[in-house]
Order: sequence, then structure tokens, then C-alpha cells
Amino acid sequence: MCGIVGYIGERSASDVLIKGLKRLEYRGYDSAGVAVMNGKMLCSKGKGKVSNLEKTLKKNKIEGFLGIGHTRWATHGEPNDVNSHPHLSESGKIAVVHNGIIENYTTLKKNLIERGRTFQSQTDTEVIAQLIEEIYTTSADITFDRAIRLALKQIVGTYGLAILNSETPDRIFIARKGSPLLLGIGDNEMFVASDASPIVEYTNKVVYLDDGEMAIVTQDSYRVKTIDDFPLTKEVHELAMSLDAIEKAGYPHFMLKEIFEQPRSVADCMRGRLNHEEGTILLGGIEDVMDHLVKARRIVIAACGTSWHSALVGEYLFEQLAKTPVEVEYASEFRYRDPLIGEGDVLLVISQSGETADTLAALREAKKRGALVLGICNVVGSTISRETDAGVFTHAGPEIGVASTKAFTAQVVVLIMMALELGERKGILGQKEMKRYLTELMRIPSKIEYILEHSDEAIQKMAGLFTYAPNFLYLGRSFNFPVALEGALKLKEISYIHAEGYPAAEMKHGPIALIDEMMPVVVIAATDHTNDKMISNIQEVKARKGRIISIMNDDNPEVKELSEFHISIPSTIDCFSPLLTVIPLQLLSYYIAVNRGCNVDQPRNLAKSVTVE
Ligand code: AGP
Repeated sequence: MCGIVGYIGERSASDVLIKGLKRLEYRGYDSAGVAVMNGKMLCSKGKGKVSNLEKTLKKNKIEGFLGIGHTRWATHGEPNDVNSHPHLSESGKIAVVHNGIIENYTTLKKNLIERGRTFQSQTDTEVIAQLIEEIYTTSADITFDRAIRLALKQIVGTYGLAILNSETPDRIFIARKGSPLLLGIGDNEMFVASDASPIVEYTNKVVYLDDGEMAIVTQDSYRVKTIDDFPLTKEVHELAMSLDAIEKAGYPHFMLKEIFEQPRSVADCMRGRLNHEEGTILLGGIEDVMDHLVKARRIVIAACGTSWHSALVGEYLFEQLAKTPVEVEYASEFRYRDPLIGEGDVLLVISQSGETADTLAALREAKKRGALVLGICNVVGSTISRETDAGVFTHAGPEIGVASTKAFTAQVVVLIMMALELGERKGILGQKEMKRYLTELMRIPSKIEYILEHSDEAIQKMAGLFTYAPNFLYLGRSFNFPVALEGALKLKEISYIHAEGYPAAEMKHGPIALIDEMMPVVVIAATDHTNDKMISNIQEVKARKGRIISIMNDDNPEVKELSEFHISIPSTIDCFSPLLTVIPLQLLSYYIAVNRGCNVDQPRNLAKSVTVE
């Protein structure tokens, strides 16, 4: 997704902007640019990496203490210099950077062209700059911020905006509708950004803009109001994020760091929320709505990507531990199919970023229909976390790598705790069972640690053998069917190898036709109650010369015998096994991608948070 940064203060604006844009690179982008005020508006932008922009600015330094910057993830108009942001109005006096999509930009652009305006780019964003200028220059006695507000009222779509005007060189105008925007409050300096990562090294005091709000920001003040000009007093939040959390800490990639952080992130997710000696769980964020959950006819879970995979694990968890029927939906499908949901239903949305457009839309659709909407998010202050009726944070720490790893395991931990708590409240799980479950749950971080310590090297070697395999098949059963999907997605998205996940029993219904000596088949054979069936599936693959890589428990000689390669992992309670079986799959996809020279943290075409449809 696009990234926005802004700065006013005593430092070199271009230095702060470049550093901030680098912090946002993980969001995925194809071009970058800055506009700095130095008596007049100076703009530098182009296709390519932030480092290219940095080199350009080193050659042609832009002095100034106020500016805005942008990393573009193309939605309208190909990635090239002219389509990169900032976009200037015709006079060159107004500069705009934008994250989001203007749905009615062609109509607006046509009207502006009819009024004699000429355009440089194919983007929707340039329309914003031109529309503001058209209103500002053709209306008598109008303030610039009123011109912005009138322009925004004509816009249909989503935006996070930072705007400069050469005629008001001491301030930045920001506005938000559907794309996140934060204001960082420093000591005689102010920061603007799409998320906290460009801000955290300067200040931990932030104000989150909400939809329909704008702000006028100067070096030592800010005024927030609605686009209907109603002044607002916003709460100043303290950022929980720390600087080292967004650094690589010596790892070659954020993804590897985040894979190895999982013993701690899983522990952090549980911290202060369970007492294994008493067999009790306390999820403060949903305490007030637990009665609704107990009475709920069903729980619908909506999410995207990896979060949809953890939702599938959640389905098995809620139905086994709490006997509550669950339906899992792709958020993008749910929102458009006139869903049958209402009073008495619960929609649970899962989102690491808390900004995924489809998931946010599903939340709003269900809320509109009267359902109780709960959330599982990793980013405090994210839109989804602020629009749900209640929720649970995963506390996994910032996940920078585009491929989600620690967020997945943290989401599964939250789902386990929710399902256990619900089962206990419904009288299905007694204290003895709760103690057994929670005691084992407390052991999971050390079991993940064990896998990372004992399997990393073997997986690195195995990755070398399969680096150039054209396809992969991942098979799992029960709780590990979603893990098969997740393992396939991890490989696809960072190594660009085609991979599919399947329920193992589905092999006979088609995929088995794909099996030959060229097909690596990753089999997740760590679920006790389906082990015999899994062995039959492995035999079917072997009979067709498939190359079997098994993720298995130490005490499974039959699977080991049948496998060309195996990764042994500690055993655990079936319903907790996704927390362990996913670890080797994360490592396998990582090492294959590194061997293939792929950009692991910022895979091509991908963004960390898909805030557009
Ligand atoms: C997962 O590795 C991908 N980066 C992607 O599928 C991601 O899970 C999906 O876009 C959902 O993101 P969210 O959890 O932030 O909503």
C-alpha cells in the first residue's frame, strides 16, 4: 500500500522524509517522492526505490524544514515518474500525497478539463490537487482549508492525504477517510505518517485521525476538525511500539527475525491472560461481551489471506472446544453477497494490520445488520480495532515482513484462548480440562524454541534441494488443513513458486493426477486422531513417486519410513498443533525464497496491508 510521511520542525525535512519513507518500504511500493517547502515548493519524485530518491536528493539537496513524502503502490496509472507522488496542481503551488482510491476521479477530471485544466498524469490523486486549486482560485474570500473541505465533499472513495500550499508555507493539511493517518507530536516539531513506524524514533505521542476528519498542522500546534468544520479534541495516545521492534536486530530479513521471535510473541500474547494453575483465562477486551458469545447461535469469522487461515483453525477450535457453530468467510466475498447475518450473530474479524479494506468493509456490513462485531488485531489504534464492538489484541509486536508469520501464531493463540474460555463459560470444559489445556499452552513457546533450534539447519539444507521445484503440494488434515494452506501461501508469496494446500483426503479427487517425481509434497502428519488416514495418503503419494517431506512428531516411525525428508517436532494437544507445524513451513518458504534471490521482506506485487479493494 502507499505510504505517507510529513514533517515540520527544526530538522532537515528531506532527511526526515527519506528516513520515514524507508520505514514504510515494507508496505510495498513502486515509486517515491517528496515535496519540501523552502520559500517555494520543491518537488523530487520518480519510479523506483526510496534509495534512488535519496541519491537524487544528495545530488540536488532540497533544504527546508517542512515537507511531505510518499511511497506509491500503483492503483491508477502505471508505475512511472509522472504518476508518482506528490502530485502538483497546475500552478505548482499545491502538492498532494494520497493513499487510497478516488472512485469518481474520471468524472471529476472530465469536469476540470472542461473548465480548462490540464493534467500531467493518469492518476486519481492529481484530481485532488487540481480540484482543490480550482475551488480555491475561483471562490471569493475562501480559506485554503475550506477549499480542501469543499473538494473532499465532492470525492467518492478513500483517502489519507497530506497537502502543502506554497501560500501557507508553515503548515501541512491532512485528511483521512478510509486510509489510516497519524499525527506524531514532538517537541517543537510535528510528524505525519500512514503508520507509527516513521514516527516512533522521534516521539511516542500520537493522535489518530478518524474517517471524515482533517487537521491543520504547524510546527508547534495542530487543529483537528471534521470536514464539516466542527472542531474536535482528540485523545493523545502513547505508542506501544519501540524503535528496536522495527529494526532487523542483526537478522538478514524482517521475516526471519519475526519467525524467530515467535517463542516470545506467543508468550506475550498469553501474558497476563491465563492462569494455568487455576485453569482460568481473562480476555479483558471481550469480557463485557462474553455473555453474547455464550448465547450466540453461531460465530462467523471473516478475514483475508493468512488471517483467513487462522480463521479456519478457529472454526475447528470453537466447534471442538465450545461446541459453537462457526462459518468462515473470505471478507471480500462476505461483504458483497448480502450476507444473512444480524441480531444474535457474532462476526469475528481477524486482521494483523487492522486496515485491510475488505475486512473493514465486512465489519461495517455486519454492524449495519445488527450483529455483534469482535476483532483480533495486532496493531493498537488500527481502524478495525477501533470500529469493532470489542476485541483482543495479539500483542505480537510490529510485523514488518510482508509475509505474515508471528501474527498467524499469535492469532491462533488468541483463538485458542477465546474457544477455551467460551467452552468453560458454556459448562463444556471443567476446571480439570482447563488446567490441562492451559498447562500445555504455556509449554508452546519452548516447543517453538525447540523447533527453531533443532530444525533450522536441516530445513536450510532441504530448501537447497527444492529451490527450483516448479510446484509444491501441501497436505494436512483437521487442524492442520489450514496449516497446509498457510504453508502453500508462504511459499507462493515470497518465492513465486506455485503451491497449493489441500485437505489430504482430497488428493483422490483430482490433485493426485499432479503427483510425479517432480512434485514435492509437504505432508503435515502431526495430528494424532487422523494419523492412520494420513499414512494412507502418504502411501498414495509415494506410489506415484511424489517426493515426500513430512512434518511429524518424533514418535511416528511409519511416517518417517515413508518420507524422503522429515522434520520432527515436539508433540502437543491436537488443537494446538498448528502453532508448531507451521514453524518448519515458514522456514522452508523463507530459505527457498532466499536461495531464489527473491525480495523476501517486500515480495513483488505485494503489500503488507491491502487498504484498497
Ligand atoms: C500473508 O502472508 C499476506 N501478507 C496476506 O495474505 C495477509 O495475511 C492479508 O493481506 C491479510 O492482512 P491482515 O491480516 O493485515 O488483514
